[in-house]
Amino acid sequence: MEKIERLRKLQAEVKAGGGPKRVERQHAAGKLTARERLTLLFDEDTFVELDLFVKHRCTNFGMQEVEAPGEGVVSGYGYVDGRLVYAYAQDFTVIGGSLGEMHASKIIKVMDNAMKVGAPVVGLNDSGGARIQEGVDALSGYGKIFFANTQASGVIPQITAVMGPCAGGAVYSPALTDFVFMVDNTSRMFITGPQVIEAVTGEKVSAEQLGGSITHNSKSGVAHFRGPDDATVIAEIRRLLSFLPSNNLEQAPMFDMGEVNANIEMLNTIVPDSPNKAYDMKEVIAALVDHGDFMEYQQYFATNMITCFARIGGRSVGIIANQPKVLAGCLDVNASDKAARFIRTCDAFNIPLLTIADVPGFLPGTDQEYSGIIRHGAKMLYAYSEATVPMVTLITRKDYGGSYLAMCSRELGADMVFAWPSAEIAVMGAQGAANIIFAREIKESDNPEATRAEKIAEYEAEFATPYKAAERGFVDDVIVPATTRLRLIDAYNMLSGKRVEKPMKKHGNIPL
Ligand code: HXC
Repeated sequence: MEKIERLRKLQAEVKAGGGPKRVERQHAAGKLTARERLTLLFDEDTFVELDLFVKHRCTNFGMQEVEAPGEGVVSGYGYVDGRLVYAYAQDFTVIGGSLGEMHASKIIKVMDNAMKVGAPVVGLNDSGGARIQEGVDALSGYGKIFFANTQASGVIPQITAVMGPCAGGAVYSPALTDFVFMVDNTSRMFITGPQVIEAVTGEKVSAEQLGGSITHNSKSGVAHFRGPDDATVIAEIRRLLSFLPSNNLEQAPMFDMGEVNANIEMLNTIVPDSPNKAYDMKEVIAALVDHGDFMEYQQYFATNMITCFARIGGRSVGIIANQPKVLAGCLDVNASDKAARFIRTCDAFNIPLLTIADVPGFLPGTDQEYSGIIRHGAKMLYAYSEATVPMVTLITRKDYGGSYLAMCSRELGADMVFAWPSAEIAVMGAQGAANIIFAREIKESDNPEATRAEKIAEYEAEFATPYKAAERGFVDDVIVPATTRLRLIDAYNMLSGKRVEKPMKKHGNIPL
């Protein structure tokens, strides 16, 4: 009995973390504790904690006297919607959640176990970074985590939520995972903080401006999702998991598909008659997917490109779509990076792709050329060409030139290409094309403007249609827009047995 009492006392001590004062401070900062976060993440009473009794073995700077309950990180496994998930949550109330040798070993154990059984890992980060007293042992801990992140990449989904500070090299574990969430106002990610930046460059910037949630979701593209508080972000992590399989050998779970409306009338009129008028591609997506529900990936970054998870016919799909409302849906450096990364994430986890094209081309300009649009655009070509999941492409309107290929044309691996009657598949838009190929006629005409208009109309009628591409079989079918949802459900059912043989190689060499 006494021994059991001792066990209970030890358990209670560790579970109290840094004690009531530090917990109060954590709450006052607008943050939940590590244990509160894990309770929200997992289905009720399913969390099983591991390594409760792990202790550090540092003796530098009087550390032998320092108790660090749980080593500043709570780790284990539990169930999310009944599916096994491993997780760790750094405990900021214990030495600022700083990471030393044994703290790192708890995280690595979770990752190793998750790899063995094929379950996702969720990391909830809130830490002052490398535990300074542990010196190189702390650095080694990070190194081992980076290595484990890389080994697990493409095998199990890895999700990180940054829910407090995450500075210096510590940012690279989240960066190596598949999905990064941030919390508004409380999370911060940067390599060098505001003080160092001011000392080195003289530049003044607040911590929030430099590495807050809005910055990394909209400017840098480091984070993929954000939310106003811990509870919302954790609920979104649960939602994201519902779109993903547990590992690369499984399929994502199937859900009830809801209504299958055979005739979605609004799709017949959503594309404006004028090629220069915009419309909201998100309305098209909402109409096509189950229950109108989709979860955007990098919602605030490169908004000329939409990437999202949704379900079609109960099946998870990853959607890549141009947004005509922003930059006319042009492909630029950031949009290419965003799409390429998303395509590879879906392909790694057996999530079929839907590409929706309305794209006038790559964005012109020295800024784009000097930023390497050639290199970045190539990532999209590469990502589609290497993907082996079922791929369906829908062309709603413009699909010109190189961007026609980059938005998953048949040549790059699309298994099924649908076009709406409003589709224009051509080397370039009618105006540009007519000016080049009819330059002599226009110049020599008595009325150049009238001739130009006539030639543009001639080109539009002949080439700015889906039918030239359909004549060659590059488009499988030209469909009535209202029937698209039905056609997509059918296509993914038909493609569900897709198998692809690839040549043996160590790995490809995607342009980075
Ligand atoms: C040891 C740390 C610590 C750390 C915080 N603490 N960070 N202890 N190593 N890295 C301790 C504090 O001393 C304090 O202990 C407690 O945690 C809470 O910290 P506070 O400073 O009171 O909290 P707050 O005011 O909220 O400030 C949080 C903070 C600040 C912004 C994170 O603590 C900070 O700047 N810490 C150092 C950050 C840093 O430079 N880390 C190294 C980054 S380089 P007491 O006992 O006083 O309560 C890195 C390299 C990784 O991580 C390399 C990978 C390749």
